[in-house]
Amino acid sequence: MKLFLDTANIDEIKLAAQTGLIDGITTNPSLVAKEKKSFEELLQEICSIIKGDISAEVTSLEIDGMVKEGKHLAKIADNIVVKIPLTQNGLCAVQKLKSEGIRSNVTLCFSPSQALLAAKAGAYIISPFVGRLDDISEDGMNLIQQIVQIYNNYNFETQVLVASCRHPLHVVNSALIGAQIATLPYKVFEQLIKHPLTDIGLEKFLSDWKKVNTK
Ligand code: G3P
Repeated sequence: MKLFLDTANIDEIKLAAQTGLIDGITTNPSLVAKEKKSFEELLQEICSIIKGDISAEVTSLEIDGMVKEGKHLAKIADNIVVKIPLTQNGLCAVQKLKSEGIRSNVTLCFSPSQALLAAKAGAYIISPFVGRLDDISEDGMNLIQQIVQIYNNYNFETQVLVASCRHPLHVVNSALIGAQIATLPYKVFEQLIKHPLTDIGLEKFLSDWKKVNTK
């Protein structure tokens, strides 16, 4: 399973990259707006740190505008994947970009029917948002189960990227279902590593070891 970091923050990306466990980065306009650098500057820096897929989102709503922006973003680095919103225009833009060899991550997916259409359009990645569904008392993980089953039924190559992950259980359940990718905030990445029994166990081992070495 691939793990992506859902951030545009260079410090977080550098810290997580040191572990060697981060396969890619997803950004969105809200995450980029939190940073002080320009979008292009950020993307260039991110692409130089992480060699895997880096998602960069368009902000146009029209087909031509999305395609134009997508082409521009794709020129920044070979590992850029153009993030396109799941709208009727977005699905058209995905096909146009694909015909030019540009890969799309179709974002803001909240239903299995949307995911089916994104795969038919030739999306490289589909991004269902589990946390935002949980927020409105729907079951985000159930959507992942449905999409994975649909894609398996028809051998779609579109990768399922579980987005809007809010806690480690979202990641674990995504892995159990067989989603190819989960993207997580830095905090959730840290939570995946930590366990209180690991800390307690390590403290005990080290204090016992100190006794041996002071004899
Ligand atoms: O990048 C898309 C998604 O992961 C956003 O998550 O927490 O804003 O719902 P969130």
